[in-house]
Amino acid sequence: MKKVGIIGVGEYLPDRILTNAHLEKMVDTSDEWITTRTGIKERHIAAAGQAASDLGVLAAQQALHNAKMKAEDLELIVVATITGDMPFPSTAAIIQDKLGAKKAVCFDISAACAGFVYGISIAQQFISNGTYKNALVIGTEVLSSVTDWKDRNTCVLFGDGAGAAVLAEVPKGGIISTYLGCDGSKVGILNMPGGGSRNPATHATVDNRMHFLKMEGNELFKIAVNTMTRAAETVLKQANMTFADIDLIIPHQANSRIIMAVAKKLGIPEERVYLNIERCGNMSSASMVTALCEAVLEGKVKRGDTVLLDVFGAGLVWGACIIEW
Ligand code: COA
Repeated sequence: MKKVGIIGVGEYLPDRILTNAHLEKMVDTSDEWITTRTGIKERHIAAAGQAASDLGVLAAQQALHNAKMKAEDLELIVVATITGDMPFPSTAAIIQDKLGAKKAVCFDISAACAGFVYGISIAQQFISNGTYKNALVIGTEVLSSVTDWKDRNTCVLFGDGAGAAVLAEVPKGGIISTYLGCDGSKVGILNMPGGGSRNPATHATVDNRMHFLKMEGNELFKIAVNTMTRAAETVLKQANMTFADIDLIIPHQANSRIIMAVAKKLGIPEERVYLNIERCGNMSSASMVTALCEAVLEGKVKRGDTVLLDVFGAGLVWGACIIEW
């Protein structure tokens, strides 16, 4: 089996910034509540008419540039998103056309906030078994399009953005170990009930606000802490490693209190945990890949470093991955 690594990363965050002060004017909340309960200060919001593919293509172009690769050489595009341009066709197909990646096989995956780790795991299989030479994995979300701006329980948490990674065979290091999981019995605690075949769009689904995401935050909080802790421990065990071998842990950016609770349980000091939640909020599938991209561009992940990615999201789904950079 070939060794597979990430050879280039990129991100795109929309220009418009929505601060906690803006939210104070929209719902009954305060900067103090949002900051202390979530760690979020601001988030990026897509412009009117800007869809997931528009964000994704800009992140992809940066990743391709950093990987020194041409779009026409891409063989696979996997897009992780829960806010694709339309229910079908795939956002990956739309991005293929915009990039001019004519050769690439394309599909989307629905694994919510765990989407990027699910995506690189899929891409890794295709490259390591020799089916494709390379792959572009994108996490892109316009969560503002499914956010209920009247619901203070959820609207303070989310943001829009995109990140991308190019994967290819590497001579050494690369993806060392990946672990994925799912518990479908908890679909009810985080979902968007309207718009699918269960509740197709009608006036009633719109009136009942069913095209917005619904979340039982408190319940999710506890599950997220335990699940992310277990995922990190499992992937380390699989790799026969300990936290002493990890230079930086990049967790899913849902809530800084969740992240710090996981770090505490795992005995990891704060300085080895990467955060971009304060500036971006929770961008679902885009959170992990933008955080990874920023950590690399800021020099916090250097060649030879070992990084642990730890994700959790609607499904419920989770995953963890260890990469030698
Ligand atoms: N501003 C002010 N008050 C708010 C508020 C807001 N934006 N949102 C909720 N509140 C209120 C609630 O109404 C509640 O009031 P009550 O006690 O009078 O009923 C109170 O704050 C506490 O609510 P609670 O839900 O217990 O707060 P919490 O400490 O659990 O924090 C979340 C709420 C959503 C921030 C937190 O539960 C969370 O982050 N959960 C996980 C979310 C997540 O991971 N989602 C994505 C998974 S990928």
